[in-house]
Amino acid sequence: MQLIDGKKVSEAIKLQIAEQVKELHAQGFKTPHLAAILVGNDGGSITYVNHKVKACEQVGFRSTLQTFEDTVSEQELLQKIEKFNQNPDIDGFIVQLPLPKHIDEQKVIESIAPEKDVDGFHPINVGKMMIGLPAFKSATPAGILELLKYYNIPTAGKHCVIIGRSNIVGRPLSVMLAQKGYPGDCTVTVCHSRTANLAEECRRGDIVIAAIGSPEFVTADMVKEGAVVIDVGTTRVPSTETKSGWKLKGDVKFDEVAPKCSYITPVPGGVGPMTICSLISNTLIAARGKKA
Ligand code: GUN
Repeated sequence: MQLIDGKKVSEAIKLQIAEQVKELHAQGFKTPHLAAILVGNDGGSITYVNHKVKACEQVGFRSTLQTFEDTVSEQELLQKIEKFNQNPDIDGFIVQLPLPKHIDEQKVIESIAPEKDVDGFHPINVGKMMIGLPAFKSATPAGILELLKYYNIPTAGKHCVIIGRSNIVGRPLSVMLAQKGYPGDCTVTVCHSRTANLAEECRRGDIVIAAIGSPEFVTADMVKEGAVVIDVGTTRVPSTETKSGWKLKGDVKFDEVAPKCSYITPVPGGVGPMTICSLISNTLIAARGKKA
């Protein structure tokens, strides 16, 4: 069994991006600038956004963090998004999800200018990605593809089972892995809450990707010998072992599943750091689109 070290891979990619930022400067481009909008006080969202800001510093990007109380109105949020759309210094921006219930998430996503939508959530980017046109790709699926590439994990003709059909992970990932070329050419099964015989479906997977947000859902009996297992779960669970009082748990029961795998990602330190890396890569692409 080989552990897929997302932290190591993401550090290597960030070093490459930092070099490319220097080249952009040498060519007269301005410093790439990523902005993030964070609404409310959800601990997980605060941590993710802070990691995104820190990654910007690491690669030499400028970053802007705009925070709002969870009482912010939809209109006020949409006004800020329009300001970011119009601001020529901001190359790309994200609105951290989830949003409070009184705000229409889809309306927010669709208000982001597609050319600045570095999360790849806008229907224009999703649609282009689906038919293989250049587009910002969803950060988590793109990060998973990078991991498969880095470890030279074969995908052609492999049966990939994805557990979860979210717009952020499962659904776009199913399209990317079925696309022509490497990493792709997979036969993909998408499992979800209504799937019959889920364990049986999972056991057919050469590659199993768990993205349901249910801690330790995937157990050893659900995975075939030699499978590649990618764990996208990051649920905070109470813990007496940490100072914070919680720790991150993946969707895979790591200790019992790992011995059966050819490759497996840990949580934390697997997919998480790669998501941030993809966001940074997308922002670099956005920044390259214009001259200073
Ligand atoms: N919430 C969970 N994952 C993501 C992500 O990749 N981007 C944003 N904006 N919100 C998220």
